[in-house]
Amino acid sequence: MNLLLQNADIVTATRRYQSDILCVDGVIREIGPGLSAPEGAETIDTTGKLVFPGFIDPHVHIHLPFMGTHAKDDWASGSKAALMGGTTTLIEMCCPSRGEDPLEAIRLWKSKAAGLASCDYSFHCGVTGFDAKTAASLRTVVSDEGIASFKIFLAYKGAFGIDDTELYKTLSLAAELGVIVTAHCENAELIAESQKKLVAEGKLGPEWHEPSRPVSVEADGCHHLATFAELTGARIYVVHTSNRPAVAALAEARSRGVDVTIETVAPYLVLDDSAAALPDFEGAKYVMSPPIRSKAHQDYLWKALADGTINTVATDHAPFDFATQKHMGHPDPAKCVDATFQTTGKPGNFTLIPNGIPSVEERVKLLYTAGVCRGRIDLHTLVNCASTQAAKIFGLYPRKGAIEVGSDADLVIWDPEWTGKISVATHSMASDYSAFEGLDIQGRAEFVTVRGKVMLRDGEWCGAPGWGNFLHREPQPSHARTHAPASSVRSHPEAL
Ligand code: URP
Ligand code: ZN
Ligand code: ZN
Repeated sequence: MNLLLQNADIVTATRRYQSDILCVDGVIREIGPGLSAPEGAETIDTTGKLVFPGFIDPHVHIHLPFMGTHAKDDWASGSKAALMGGTTTLIEMCCPSRGEDPLEAIRLWKSKAAGLASCDYSFHCGVTGFDAKTAASLRTVVSDEGIASFKIFLAYKGAFGIDDTELYKTLSLAAELGVIVTAHCENAELIAESQKKLVAEGKLGPEWHEPSRPVSVEADGCHHLATFAELTGARIYVVHTSNRPAVAALAEARSRGVDVTIETVAPYLVLDDSAAALPDFEGAKYVMSPPIRSKAHQDYLWKALADGTINTVATDHAPFDFATQKHMGHPDPAKCVDATFQTTGKPGNFTLIPNGIPSVEERVKLLYTAGVCRGRIDLHTLVNCASTQAAKIFGLYPRKGAIEVGSDADLVIWDPEWTGKISVATHSMASDYSAFEGLDIQGRAEFVTVRGKVMLRDGEWCGAPGWGNFLHREPQPSHARTHAPASSVRSHPEAL
């Protein structure tokens, strides 16, 4: 399993240079010119390719009981799909339902990954309520289970969503423990009222999902969370920001000293609200929350990524089949597929379409094709937002997110010239459709290693379920310096 990469064109968040990379016993042992391979080591000549640190997706759902159904992937298919796209570490949202104990939930979520994951992984611990036992459980989650981040939802009233007292208690505890809180920010009450009104007006199709939770509802949620973070001193990370006012509310909070980092997700960068309007219920394929916005917001997100306002690009991978699961929300009684409908006789509407898009496999290809190849971001920003920043924010750096002596040998040999199309016919995710069907892609992962083991060779899967390790993380002090965009970090290497 020792490996020598020769003639590597190494691209990190801050540097690009030519070198060889020697990996021994799962870690990078040496970086330098003219290295020789120890006996038995595999040698790969990477001439003409780019070599990136393994990519990290800090926001995925694999085991997800949600909206009356269950997301499609398990850890075998989800982690394989991640690796096929160059992602070597996943951080999954552990989402207990309200009333479930977070400690038991973390143990359950870990059991779903153990033995099946081919890539390394960690979890954000969901806090979906705060009763007398919650604080003690969360303390144990942090001290004994290797978890250093929580996940909260301001949306999904009556399911995962928490109220303001619970929010205050969660953030206060997180601040005390040095744990970062990841948050889905949308005003739950406004969504519930808008949904009721639209449904009562007979506006039932997927095209009404976005109007039921407009930009202002998300911006309000972001502002709300930032205010609570300011008063409690908690570090926050806002997941899947989709639009300018939401990001601006967080950037403004950051400028007054709130410790906030900002994520967007791949679907918002390449899809726009025209997808939800597709006929024949096709729009349901694109129902996720917050909703996919207009082109103007998409353009803004790219700029905010390039200038470092947005720190990370994740996927929010949440796969549901179109033919069955998305059809739970079909308004036509002849096409609605739902057990509730069978008993109540009431067909679906957009509020019953399971929210989420399968995307863990496509993130880096999309960022490279629509970002780097179109000049919207440079290669360093690609590495920074899709790997290094997540490692720094979530306490994995420099073990992950770096090509340094001593880092895990998680490496992606990227063919920048490869061209092809995305299709459900060739993807590894378990879902029955691709939200990016037919999209022309440039660049792909050709070789991918996880701790020195080759999982993808010449673009073909050769991985091993069970190879993935759980990554123990420690609570962290403030990470204020990780906010810098790749460009400014580059000119101040000491800022690393
Ligand atoms: O629509 C989405 N985003 N589904 C997954 C659950 C969540 O909100 O992250
Ligand atoms: Zn969410
Ligand atoms: Zn999510």
